[in-house]
Amino acid sequence: MQRIPLSKCYVNQEIRDAALRAIESGYYILGKESAAFEDELAAYTGTKHAVLCSSWTMGVFLLHQAMGLKKGDEVLVPSHTAFPTIEPLIHCGAKPVFVDIDDTFCLDVCHLESAITPRTVGIIPVHIYGHPANLDRVFEVANKHHLWVIEDCAQAQGAQYHGKTVGSIAQVGAFSFYPSKNLTVLGDGGCICTSDAALVEKMRMLRNHGRKEKYLHEIPGFNVRFNEIQAAVGRVALKHLETLNEHRRQIAAQYHQRLQGVVIPPREMPWAKAVYHMYVIRAEKRDDLAQYLKARGIETGIHYPIPNHQQPAVTHLFPHQAPLPKTEQVVGEILSLPISGELSTADANRVCDGVSAFYGQV
Ligand SMILES: Cc1ncc(COP(=O)(O)O)c(C=O)c1O
Repeated sequence: MQRIPLSKCYVNQEIRDAALRAIESGYYILGKESAAFEDELAAYTGTKHAVLCSSWTMGVFLLHQAMGLKKGDEVLVPSHTAFPTIEPLIHCGAKPVFVDIDDTFCLDVCHLESAITPRTVGIIPVHIYGHPANLDRVFEVANKHHLWVIEDCAQAQGAQYHGKTVGSIAQVGAFSFYPSKNLTVLGDGGCICTSDAALVEKMRMLRNHGRKEKYLHEIPGFNVRFNEIQAAVGRVALKHLETLNEHRRQIAAQYHQRLQGVVIPPREMPWAKAVYHMYVIRAEKRDDLAQYLKARGIETGIHYPIPNHQQPAVTHLFPHQAPLPKTEQVVGEILSLPISGELSTADANRVCDGVSAFYGQV
C-alpha cells in the first residue's frame, strides 16, 4: 500500500538545472537571480516591488521595524493561524489582540470593531489555508480608525479576492516559501510585496546590515538576505504556480463532491478564488478518523491543534483573554487531508474512500 503524504514539493528537471546554474554562477547572495525573482514576484502579485527575505517571519519583523511599530501598540489578528504570525509583533513589544474566526477559518470581521482601543495601530488578516479573508470589511474598519493592514499571504500565493491577487490589496502582503507552501524555493524564504517605495528602501537596508553601499552602514540592520540558488529555484516554481494551483482546485472540487454530507468540507466564499494550500475538513471523532486513515497509509495533519492565545509562550501576556468560541471549537474538529499540485485523482479518491469507510458510508 503506497503512502499518501499530506503535501509534496514540486521538483522537476528545470528546477534542478536552475539550481546548478546558480551554483556555477559563483555568486550566492542577493545577485541577479534574486533581483529577477523580486521583479517576477511583484509582477505576478500586482505590486510595484517585492523584497526577498530569509523567511516570512524575518521579513515581517523587518517590516514592523520599518513601519515604526512600538512597544504597547496593539494589532488585531486571528488566534487561529500559524504561531509565526504573531512572533514579530511580540519581538517588537506590540500586543496581538486576538479576534475570533468565521466559517472560512479567517478572521470574523463582525468582531473587529469591538476589539479596537486607542492603542490599536493595525490589522493582520490571514488568508488561512489559501482562502482570502473578507478584505472589504477589514478595509472599512481600518480606514475608519486609521489602521494599517498587512495581508498574511504565507499560505495563499496566487489566491484571489474579487479577482485581485492577494498581497496586492493592502499596503503590504507577506509571503512564505517554506517547503510545504504553494510556491516554494526548497528551503526557507519569504517576501514582502508592496508598492510603497519608501518602505522598500528601508527594508532593503534593514535586511542587509543597514547599508546601501558595501562599507557604509547608515542604520543598524540585520542579516535577513536571500540566496541565489533558492531564487533560481523559485523563478522556475513561479512559472508553474498557476497550473499547480489549478490542480489543487480540481482536487478540492473532487473532495467537496465526495465528502459533502460525510464531513463538513471547507467553504469557498463567492468573492474568493482559494488556492487550497490545505484542504481542511471539520469532522466528528476527528482523532479516530486520523488514526483510521494513518493505518491505511494516508497522512493527515491538524493546523493548528492549539490556538495562539493558549500557547504557553504567550499566555502570560494575556491574563484577561476572553474566550474565542469558534476558534476553540474548531481546533477539536479540523483535519487537513492530503493535497498538493501533483496529487493524483486516484489518490484523492483513496482518501475519500477512507473517510467514507470510517463513517460507514461506502
Ligand atoms: C499563516 C502563516 N504565517 C506565517 C508563517 C511563517 O512563515 P515562515 O516559516 O516563512 O517564517 C507561516 C508558515 O508557517 C504561515 O503558515
